[in-house]
Amino acid sequence: MADSAGRPAPPGGRRRFLSRGLAGAILLWAVAGAGPAGAVDEIAPERATGRQAAQSVVAYDWMVVAAHPLASAAGAAMLREGGTAVDAMIATQLVLGLVEPQSSGLGGGAFLVHWAARDQQLVTLDGRETAPAAATPDLFLGADGQPLGFYDAVVGGRSVGTPGTVRLLAEAHRRWGRLPWDSLFEPAIRLAETGFLVSPRLAALVAQDAARLRRNPATRDYFFDARGAPVRAGMWLTNPAYGQTLRRLALGGEDAFYQGTLAAQMVAAVQQAPDNPGRLALADLAAYRVVERPALCVAYRIYRICGMGPPSSGMLTIGGILGLLQPYHLARLGPADPEAWRLIGDASRLAFADRDRYIADTDFIRVPVKGLLDPAYLAARAALLKGSHALPDSAAEAGSPPWDHAEQRATGAAPELPSTSHLVIRDRVGNLVTMTTTIENGFGARLMVGGFLLNNELTDFSFVPERGGIPVANRVEPGKRPRSSMAPTIVFKDGRPVLALGSPGGALIINVVAKVLIATLDWGLDLKAALALPNLANRGGPYEVETGTPAALVDGLRAKGFAVQVKELNSGVAAVQIFADHMVGAADPRREGLPLGE
Ligand code: GLY
Repeated sequence: MADSAGRPAPPGGRRRFLSRGLAGAILLWAVAGAGPAGAVDEIAPERATGRQAAQSVVAYDWMVVAAHPLASAAGAAMLREGGTAVDAMIATQLVLGLVEPQSSGLGGGAFLVHWAARDQQLVTLDGRETAPAAATPDLFLGADGQPLGFYDAVVGGRSVGTPGTVRLLAEAHRRWGRLPWDSLFEPAIRLAETGFLVSPRLAALVAQDAARLRRNPATRDYFFDARGAPVRAGMWLTNPAYGQTLRRLALGGEDAFYQGTLAAQMVAAVQQAPDNPGRLALADLAAYRVVERPALCVAYRIYRICGMGPPSSGMLTIGGILGLLQPYHLARLGPADPEAWRLIGDASRLAFADRDRYIADTDFIRVPVKGLLDPAYLAARAALLKGSHALPDSAAEAGSPPWDHAEQRATGAAPELPSTSHLVIRDRVGNLVTMTTTIENGFGARLMVGGFLLNNELTDFSFVPERGGIPVANRVEPGKRPRSSMAPTIVFKDGRPVLALGSPGGALIINVVAKVLIATLDWGLDLKAALALPNLANRGGPYEVETGTPAALVDGLRAKGFAVQVKELNSGVAAVQIFADHMVGAADPRREGLPLGE
């Protein structure tokens, strides 16, 4: 068992500071507070909070990479006990919901990609939140018919979708688990009841979000003391309510979440949110289902890259970017060459234009999935990238992919800010889990029930349902799943998995995962170097370039005609690269993740 899991709580109540020295020794990460020199995105919910020393490890039997050391340790404990990758994933997720509550948890949703080594079978499970049955397309329009301000929509009950994570954990366990369900809860229960150290990142994000977190009494009581001071890094924190919730679920299974006391508490919190009530009902919770969907796979160079299809736009948009880059020799250019980033940036701009026009939940909306990946369509659009200068705005529009259903679509408007969490786990026999998990915005809707936060996933829908009478694909509809950018990904070569990865980051997820794919597959960088490369994203506005990117690259992009905005671009990649006789796990230096392997 991980050293952290059994540590007794210090006497003296729920909150207590450890001595500086001890806190420093126990904290596994070394945050090197790099003050950003570029623009700070004031509304970004999960802003940069410093960088840690790059984390990568080599292992031979198993590997866990998660966004917090205690979560990785919980997964590792399950693998040491003979658990499968899914057993480890469940224990890891339950601890993430405690120690990284701003990013994911029981009150949210997730997409899981699973590779079963023995059966050589790839399955993707959709545990995305659904809009309540009472939701209507004007959910995020104000009385004046205009879209609400982002946080006016997010904070409170209005944005809360029916959570999917708990059913996803249960479904995955039924299919691929080996250890008893209740045993997977032990590390998280122990940590919730005996306490854990507040990480520098959690403390910084609570402080940044204080005004919003104070609006709900349960949330305020957990993240602030009686005098109103926020939790601080190195502070010992317990969450008895979360411990009680976990005990209920360990004993009662998923039904203890979707029916009964907890369900009633969630509905009450949403419907009775004083200033912004929502529409989640008991019947929504009772009706929630996980959906198995066909994996979406694209060919790139000598690889086959697979992930989650709609309602996530992640793999489909990454497939579009890579498809547009296919004719270009990125390997010859390399990561320091502005020409490489011109191609990647404009490929991203074109793929995002298509994404915003066409991609939504396929259970409700026809999506030209095949058309968007059609080789002839992509080749024609790739030809736009010839030359050496940035595409003019007039050329960076959505295209017309081949499609049986000539439906008119308007471009949507869904602000998608950096948040969420990612984990990758490979077990002893080679089963592989890559899962992106989220409560959407940092701290979700800021409503806390049973020690966990409720999601604000519905704000991933377009706030605008139509333009000039033409419907937006990603408009709110009852029972529909909001479009996501999450991109849990597995790369195959000759039929065998060679890389599994994913990242948080809102819509930036797409650019970050594409970057790591290009860095490893085209440029041959090792994972540590690939993750450390700056994040760049061209999504239709200025070319966003991460603070700290070498000036030569920034100047080179400007010289190519791009408007460049230097800013925080915070990712949190977790990745495992698999070789014939070993594997390498790596965590993004921008967050607090840790790879653990043996
Ligand atoms: N809420 C983050 C995503 O689904 O992309």
